[in-house]
Amino acid sequence: MDKITVGPMPFMSVMPTLLVGVNVKGKPNYMTAAWATVACMAPPMLCVAINKARYTVKGIDENKTFSLNVPSEKMVVETDHCGLVSGSNEDKSGVFRSFYGKLKTAPMPEECPVTIECSLFKSVECGSHLLYIGKIEEIHADTSCLTDGKPDIEKIRPIVYAQHTYFGVGKQVEKAFSAGKKYRK
Ligand SMILES: Cc1cc2nc3c(=O)[nH]c(=O)nc-3n(C[C@H](O)[C@H](O)[C@H](O)COP(=O)(O)O)c2cc1C
Repeated sequence: MDKITVGPMPFMSVMPTLLVGVNVKGKPNYMTAAWATVACMAPPMLCVAINKARYTVKGIDENKTFSLNVPSEKMVVETDHCGLVSGSNEDKSGVFRSFYGKLKTAPMPEECPVTIECSLFKSVECGSHLLYIGKIEEIHADTSCLTDGKPDIEKIRPIVYAQHTYFGVGKQVEKAFSAGKKYRK
């Protein structure tokens, strides 16, 4: 394969499409986020990179809590809306029906099949963005999206983000932690 250099940029092959839920002055606000991933297994943690200018930052500063929520394909319009409009200019509290869990200050959309409550573990100032690392306090999963008691991707139908485009999840290629066993030198 021929390679060229394309310069440094925040590239990742594919990303999740999530909604960050915060309370600002007691009101829910939802922001679309793709720059998010797992940060730790024990204790379970997630992280999300949020630009300092986002209204969402005010909510995390205020309560030290946030939610990371997984919208399904059918929520793509509302999800993109939360990435186009800022809570500083427009009230987004009515875009979803909010509910609260044990943290009380991390709103979650009823409509999302999986919602995750996080307490702030640490924030790292990276430059334009703050990396928020959240300790997972609870996960709420819709019963219709479970197989054998666990969240099932084929039922959740999460939205994949890449190249300014939303994709669905494609077909299985192989089983992880298993395909490699076929490797021969
Ligand atoms: C698909 C998509 C992914 C986004 N991912 C992020 C992200 O990871 N971090 C971020 O700071 N902004 C991200 N944004 C931009 C924010 O969602 C957008 O600026 C939003 O209006 C901020 O809302 P807020 O000001 O109410 O917090 C994304 C937008 C879209 C459409």
